[in-house]
Amino acid sequence: MSTETRQRRVTTARLAEMKARGEKIAMLTAYDYSTARILDDAGIDVLLVGDSASNVVHGHETTLPITLDQMIDHASAVVRAARAALVIVDMPFGSYQGDSRLALESAVRIMKESGAHAVKMEGGEVVIESIRRVLSAGIPVMGHLGLTPQSIYRFGTYVVRAKDADEAEHLARDAALLQQAGCFGIVLEKIPAALGARLSRELTIPMIGIGAGAGVDGQVLVTHDMLGITTDFSPRFLRRYAELATLIADACRRYTKDVKEQSFPSREESY
Ligand code: KIV
Repeated sequence: MSTETRQRRVTTARLAEMKARGEKIAMLTAYDYSTARILDDAGIDVLLVGDSASNVVHGHETTLPITLDQMIDHASAVVRAARAALVIVDMPFGSYQGDSRLALESAVRIMKESGAHAVKMEGGEVVIESIRRVLSAGIPVMGHLGLTPQSIYRFGTYVVRAKDADEAEHLARDAALLQQAGCFGIVLEKIPAALGARLSRELTIPMIGIGAGAGVDGQVLVTHDMLGITTDFSPRFLRRYAELATLIADACRRYTKDVKEQSFPSREESY
């Protein structure tokens, strides 16, 4: 849907309506103004200021190093660009785990300083006190279960989660707990498609999948991955919609050649 046909801002209530009428939700990550403006104009429902910025923008190996200040900077730029999309911001590692007062303080900073519309936290029962306290301040919270990259050193690997029955049941209990607490949606990362479909059926709030199959209520991808800006990450769930790294490299090679050969700038490009 284009911005011309999008009358109103997407809200958490509208996401619930979309699930109720079977309309799938399209979510992508965004970290800067110019890209967020393109995504918003293209009709993306939800822009996630993901802590994947730690990897794809800042070049870290994991999502752990990114700071609250950096997330707020990224979020502020995305909020300035988003005319219709709902903007959700990842609470970074160390800003909410194990301390619900810290969680509230971090979430309030994100909302006040960036103007974002909601926050996302990874984990179920282990972070439920933090989630409840943030919700109690009227801040909408999205959950994130399955592969939770902030816990990568506990998992030790990025393999598919909840393949065995015990882990699947544990995840289902966590999802029900998040819904009961008042989360407006849950990201399900890298879990079997059947489990994604089951949770989407059993729960009333939207389930947004990344590697969780087609039976969930919406999909999210990391924009740099789906546009082919990153080239060294090819999980099975990733569909590349463009090969921007090739296009950008080619443009840069032509530019360098033109500068060296002094064919740029031309007379028309000069004052
Ligand atoms: O940080 C991120 O980009 C995310 C998505 C993978 C859902 O959390």
